[in-house]
Amino acid sequence: MSAPSRKRYQQSAKLYQRARRVLAGGVSSQFRAYGYPHPLFYTRGEGPWIWDADGNRYLDFTLSQGPLILGHSPPELLARVAQATAQGQIYAGQHEAELELAERIVQLVPGAELLRFSLSGSEAVHAAIRLARGWTGRPLVAKFEGHYHGWFDNVAWSITTPDAEAAGPLEAPRPVPWSRGVPDEEASRLLILPWNQPQIVENLLRRHGEQLATVICEPIMCNNGCIVPEPGFLVLLRRLCDELGAVLIFDEVITGFRIDLGGAQRYYDVTPDLAVFGKALANGFPISALAGKAEVMEPLARGQVIHAGTMNSGVPSVAAALATLDQLEQGQVHARLFELGRQLMDQLADASRRAGHPLLLQGPGPMFHAGFTPLDRVRHYRDTLQYDTAKYARFVAGMHDHGVRLIGRGIWYLSAAHEPEHIEQAARTAYEVLRAL
Ligand SMILES: Cc1ncc(COP(=O)(O)O)c(C=O)c1O
Repeated sequence: MSAPSRKRYQQSAKLYQRARRVLAGGVSSQFRAYGYPHPLFYTRGEGPWIWDADGNRYLDFTLSQGPLILGHSPPELLARVAQATAQGQIYAGQHEAELELAERIVQLVPGAELLRFSLSGSEAVHAAIRLARGWTGRPLVAKFEGHYHGWFDNVAWSITTPDAEAAGPLEAPRPVPWSRGVPDEEASRLLILPWNQPQIVENLLRRHGEQLATVICEPIMCNNGCIVPEPGFLVLLRRLCDELGAVLIFDEVITGFRIDLGGAQRYYDVTPDLAVFGKALANGFPISALAGKAEVMEPLARGQVIHAGTMNSGVPSVAAALATLDQLEQGQVHARLFELGRQLMDQLADASRRAGHPLLLQGPGPMFHAGFTPLDRVRHYRDTLQYDTAKYARFVAGMHDHGVRLIGRGIWYLSAAHEPEHIEQAARTAYEVLRAL
């Protein structure tokens, strides 16, 4: 294979300089600040492809951090959004399509008996935690280290830590704030748990049981290493929450509609009390959902726990969600995403071994994680600290220069728009880039 041409970024560089004068750090989300070689500007997306302001084309495995499960700009979905929006945008009142969407989710998701829609995953998580506290009358939120639940104060803890020492002992992890400005007092309302460590989790939860409002987790630890729960682990969380009278929340912002139409809860056959959905639900249009058992959602229904939002369940987002669910169902997309994901993981493993820089690949397939590590399996957050992130950053930069766009943290996303030829192209490029590393 001849070496693919390097990309050039002059136009984006100019726009970035301009942006820094009016947008803090030149971006609208901290995660975008980490773009290579600096935050880039994009002009167009179509299927698995995205174009930047310099006209460079990339095969896209970031999919806007996950939402674009049908790929960029699916024409049928855009037509339905345009048609619905031509009638009206938002009403500060209910509309029938929103009701249809709620009925559809209730049908698909095992634990969804009642719902509320919001705009972002962070907001829906916030509503879930307030509801869990309101329902139990207890203060304590148990969260796993390395799990990401959005950027709000009560969960912006123990997402990343400088090192294992800052994180405290594995048997009693310490809350580590993600940001300056997060109030210290939040730490006293948090219990930090290690993922896939049943005995430690059981001990910690039992010790704090009387204060425990909720256990929240990503049912697959997508945001750090894409670490699946070990057999029995989610069942243990379910059993302990039942025993201790706490609310089990699955944050399905990534897993929801991506690994199964019924989410991770259907995939693993463990039903939480509450679950939060976002990202893939509307293929990138802003909508999220809090869905749960009627009994636990009751304080919202009665107005005892408040959830609100001027922009909630806007017409374009609801139309996009209905179109996404239709296409996911009709196209039997999930079996294909698992198959393509498996092929890509196998081919990347092979290419990286041949190039002398083996990647560890983990995850179910529709999303997975790639990284350089001395370990042969990554089981929990402490293990992820052994990833060679500097080397992976060089790999991501090389892939980018050769037309494959990846997320720096190591997670890869697949869409219905990816074809086997795109998988082969990515693996071939990875081989060339790694050989030159
Ligand atoms: C598991 C999980 N929960 C919550 C969020 C926050 O969602 P949003 O960025 O829409 O606020 C994210 C975002 O990446 C996520 O991955």
